[in-house]
Amino acid sequence: MIVRTVLCVLSLLGCTGVTGKAIYYEEKPPTPEELSFLKRYGYLSSPDEQGDGDDTDYAYTPHSISDALKRMQAFAGLPETGTLDPETKQLFNKKRCGVKDIEMSPASSRSRRYILQQAWNKKSITYRVVNGSSTMEKSRVEAWMEVGLGIWAPHGDLSFSRIEEGRADIQVSFVSGNHGDGFPFDGPGHIVAHAFPPPHGAMHFDDEETWGDNPEEEDEDVTDFFAVAVHEIGHALGLSHSNEKSSVMYPYYQVPVERLHIDDILGMQKLYLKEQESGESTESPVSQTSLVPRFTKAGSEEDENYMPDLCLTNYDTLQVINDKIFVFEEEWVWVLYDRHEMEEGYPKRFHDVFRGLPLSINIIKTIYQRQNGNVVIFSGRRYWEFDSLFHFIKQGSISDYLIPKDVAELTTVFLSNYNNKTYLIEEERYWRFDESTGTMDPKYPKEMSMWRQVPYPVDAAVVWKGDTYFFQGPRFWRFDNELVQAHEYYPLPTAQVWFQCKSTSEMDRYVTNDGP
Ligand SMILES: *[C@@H]1O[C@H](CO)[C@@H](O)[C@H](O)[C@H]1NC(C)=O
Ligand SMILES: *[C@@H]1O[C@H](CO)[C@@H](O)[C@H](O)[C@H]1NC(C)=O
Ligand SMILES: [Zn+2]
Ligand SMILES: [Zn+2]
Repeated sequence: MIVRTVLCVLSLLGCTGVTGKAIYYEEKPPTPEELSFLKRYGYLSSPDEQGDGDDTDYAYTPHSISDALKRMQAFAGLPETGTLDPETKQLFNKKRCGVKDIEMSPASSRSRRYILQQAWNKKSITYRVVNGSSTMEKSRVEAWMEVGLGIWAPHGDLSFSRIEEGRADIQVSFVSGNHGDGFPFDGPGHIVAHAFPPPHGAMHFDDEETWGDNPEEEDEDVTDFFAVAVHEIGHALGLSHSNEKSSVMYPYYQVPVERLHIDDILGMQKLYLKEQESGESTESPVSQTSLVPRFTKAGSEEDENYMPDLCLTNYDTLQVINDKIFVFEEEWVWVLYDRHEMEEGYPKRFHDVFRGLPLSINIIKTIYQRQNGNVVIFSGRRYWEFDSLFHFIKQGSISDYLIPKDVAELTTVFLSNYNNKTYLIEEERYWRFDESTGTMDPKYPKEMSMWRQVPYPVDAAVVWKGDTYFFQGPRFWRFDNELVQAHEYYPLPTAQVWFQCKSTSEMDRYVTNDGP
């Protein structure tokens, strides 16, 4: 204890001395409510866990609180100032889920954004709505639960059935205050719900909130049941909070909920589809074509005209297939037969082009063409293979490429024309696979930093007219295979060079390695 205090004093002095800034703690110490927020959601371990044995808040040093604030800010996607700035202050009062955000264990170096708990060890799961709230009838709750469960079901191959009586796997109820599970609700506002992972599976909604099911109704006091239910179902299926702001598992209340984020989907696949990895094709190819994997709430109007804009340069990946440039964004694919030259009839939904790809896949992160002309699409640890006319052939696991078990997902795969080897990239490292012999080259994985001046993680790598190009965000680089580094005149803006997009002032910023 003494040693700790001395260290703190020293570092405090160091801090003020070097930066010339006063320590926030003296100006605005956190309120007891703010402290308990930091503890409740896992950002600040309790003094006991710190080993002080002192049960008062005095045991927290300014540094431990500042670090906790930084963790909280990072998770929420705010600048990590470590101080109680106005944006951070607002978070304390936001509506949110009552489940902890992080477990304060030594963070693994290869941490994933989604954290996993336990999965149900069966595919058929029962649920029961015990009661409704004073503002939402039980039958409405049942209807929205059915929609919400239906959104998650395909990503884990799960089926849900409602029972009216007895103990269901997932029990939904509206309760208030201290309701016996050790996680009391707090009246109107702030915590609106929480749920327990399998095998418990209970979903509790705070009955002191005003629940509604019309998110267009702009009443701050009304909490949208569906938005919260989709999130809580994630917990009841075993998912934890995600720091990805556009994911459903982000802990702060956001409306409207429109679709699962890839982060949510990967979490589900990791929990529920892992046992399929070693097996042969268990899924039959899906033949419906007009179904859109994007979901909207029942009753809400889908914007038929919605289409992402390629010139905003936010595409998921691109690849050269049959000597044409395929660009993927959300559920769409564009095909260009040359730079700037769009093939007629595109964009199309990629599910209409690659029939047999499960509809649960709503984003294509990486795709490549094998030397024999076959086209392979990767998602999680699975891949789906098509012939060069895009007829479905088979699915398999990335274990077939001898990728180790701890790799959850590949970010980019491409076939190099330089050595005819297949490069399989996972963010910061990559493997080199020889398809002609079915062997991994020795001494892999290697670090992406081996490729000098090439950014990583890369969104795409393609071979176009004999040259290798890497893409990330709005920029691309041409790679010099001999020098193993990017060509000196790169990066350049992707949209203006590859697609038919007008020059913009933003574009100038894309020709340097820094910035957006
Ligand atoms: C709903 O059921 C739970 C569990 O039986 C009970 O504790 C709670 O008071 C009920 N809520 C309402 C609003 O009736
Ligand atoms: C790669 O394969 C192509 C087609 O089979 C062949 O023409 C080329 O010479 C090969 N390149 C190398 C470096 O082996
Ligand atoms: Zn939650
Ligand atoms: Zn509860």
